[in-house]
Amino acid sequence: MSAKKNPNVHVFHHPLISHKMAILRNKYTSIVEFRRAIKEIAMLECYEALRDIPTAAQTIVTPLESTRQHVIKEKEICFVPILRAGLAMAEGFIDLMPRAKVGHIGIYRNPKTKKPVEYFIKLPRNISKLRVFLIDPMLATGGSAIEAVKRLYKHGAKNVTFVCMVAAPEGVKAFTKACPHVKLYIGTLDRELNKNKYILPGIGDAGDRIYGTEEEI
Ligand code: PRP
Ligand code: URA
Repeated sequence: MSAKKNPNVHVFHHPLISHKMAILRNKYTSIVEFRRAIKEIAMLECYEALRDIPTAAQTIVTPLESTRQHVIKEKEICFVPILRAGLAMAEGFIDLMPRAKVGHIGIYRNPKTKKPVEYFIKLPRNISKLRVFLIDPMLATGGSAIEAVKRLYKHGAKNVTFVCMVAAPEGVKAFTKACPHVKLYIGTLDRELNKNKYILPGIGDAGDRIYGTEEEI
């Protein structure tokens, strides 16, 4: 699909991500394994998404001598998970960059219309100066991510990257059209949406699988 040719769209082709994705796809994966795989894939994606992050030289004293070493200005980074599922993904990002700022946007899809409904937003006051990484495992219709980017811009964000794990071609098309200046990182590009706007083959409902909310007791 044309997404491959868009320089702003990066689809991961890595055996480790593919391997961990098998854990997410498997309907028999336990909640413990599912959460762990979300976090591990998030860390792998974070590694790549931060590739062009600005660094600054710092003087470090090794056991043998002084040296200059480039480090990331962690406090200029902001991770923004879309609640709920993005929270589990954010854990991996925060483990790698523990001093980064974290904002939150709560959005759910209306079960009937599948349109995004925002219910919470809390962002760092100086968001306009931060490099923002919006995080959500799923890009299905694209509605939630597009709405989140709009909110980020409304609150002053200027530099936004979106990182997801599983995307549908329909969502990628909608997102790149609505947010042409936002870099998009995708763990795996799936086939299509079903009639209920779930991704096929997909991983099911990410939020429910992370939090056990649809499991029978
Ligand atoms: C899921 C997912 C995304 C959204 C993607 O959230 O985590 O936010 O759906 O779908 P879209 O691209 O069609 O908007 P959901 O609405 O299930 O909320 P939850 O995370 O609270 O379960
Ligand atoms: N949200 C999910 O959690 N899964 C999908 O397949 C689509 C939207």
